[in-house]
Amino acid sequence: MNNEAPVDWDTFEGFALRETDSMYVAKCRGGETWNPGKIEPYGNLSFSPAAGILNYGQGVFEGIKAYRTEKNRIVTFRPDKNAERCAEGCARLSMPPVPQDMFVDAVKQVVRANTRWVPPKGRGALYIRPLVLGSGPVLGLAPAPEYTFLIYVSPVGNYFKSGLEPIHLVVDPSVKRAAPGGTGGVKHIGNYAPVLQTQRSYKGAGYSDVLYLDAVHNKYVEEVSSCNIFALGKDGTVRTPRLSGTILPGITRMSIIQLLKDKGFPVEELDLSIDQLMDASEVFCTGTAVVLAGVGSVTYNGIKAQFSQGSDVGPVTRDLYDTLTGIQSERLEDPYLWVVEVEH
Ligand SMILES: Cc1ncc(COP(=O)(O)O)c(C=O)c1O
Repeated sequence: MNNEAPVDWDTFEGFALRETDSMYVAKCRGGETWNPGKIEPYGNLSFSPAAGILNYGQGVFEGIKAYRTEKNRIVTFRPDKNAERCAEGCARLSMPPVPQDMFVDAVKQVVRANTRWVPPKGRGALYIRPLVLGSGPVLGLAPAPEYTFLIYVSPVGNYFKSGLEPIHLVVDPSVKRAAPGGTGGVKHIGNYAPVLQTQRSYKGAGYSDVLYLDAVHNKYVEEVSSCNIFALGKDGTVRTPRLSGTILPGITRMSIIQLLKDKGFPVEELDLSIDQLMDASEVFCTGTAVVLAGVGSVTYNGIKAQFSQGSDVGPVTRDLYDTLTGIQSERLEDPYLWVVEVEH
């Protein structure tokens, strides 16, 4: 096999699927114990038309990145936390949780098998997409009799076209992403398709993405379609929606809270009202795909709150971005041991 991936890294950009060499696949028959998985050529899967995933949406996914660092290593960021969140999602969807060691080992195996697709340092990342799904046939509403854990990978550039340039969000109070008691707190595949229509129409109107409000009071900020949100108040306190089961417990969110506390910022996890957010001095979003994106404006009920001008982002946003990407790229020390090497 040619060791150079057929990608022109100089012009490489965007967050889109590029098929790679291989994927990881494991099965759990009888719904209890996972058999060891193996690396297979990347390709289509074959399921019964009655598969639990196809009929009842029994599935969760994860998103992780691997990238080349200043120390010429290939690393991932806190994959143990993705394993934990995946296991919680499996339990919520009545699927057998993938053991943490198996999950992290599978992530490393699939990266190792596709190292030629990891972009050069600073050019992007290899996006890693684990999926656990009900692959066995089931007709009556019940858990599937067989499960598949698979991981595929794709090299990616920036999620938002603008990189660290600020994004522009819009609140649509008539559309809800998650409700108490539902599945908003896990990475359930069914959480995403329902927001596509809204996201598409606002993207068409020039916004970068949609910011959702809570389903009960229609007043508290929840999250964006695929990232968490933070507001730096004029009083110097950083606020972010608390984890109440309706937003995803982001691993970037968790890491940014730690960095903020260590930088001396008071941090509050609370019911953050849209009015409080609109009055903030800086707003930013966090997620594996976006990393940390400054929010230039939020539009709510026809009023636009502006947090930065042009291509600027606020100083706290920039500093956090520099610290997080510094740790991830091994330009800075990693006192938290967040970065995990994939030996290759
Ligand atoms: C709905 C939603 N919120 C937040 C996030 C950010 O989570 P993380 O930082 O773990 O990528 C994601 C992405 O995984 C997401 O899909």
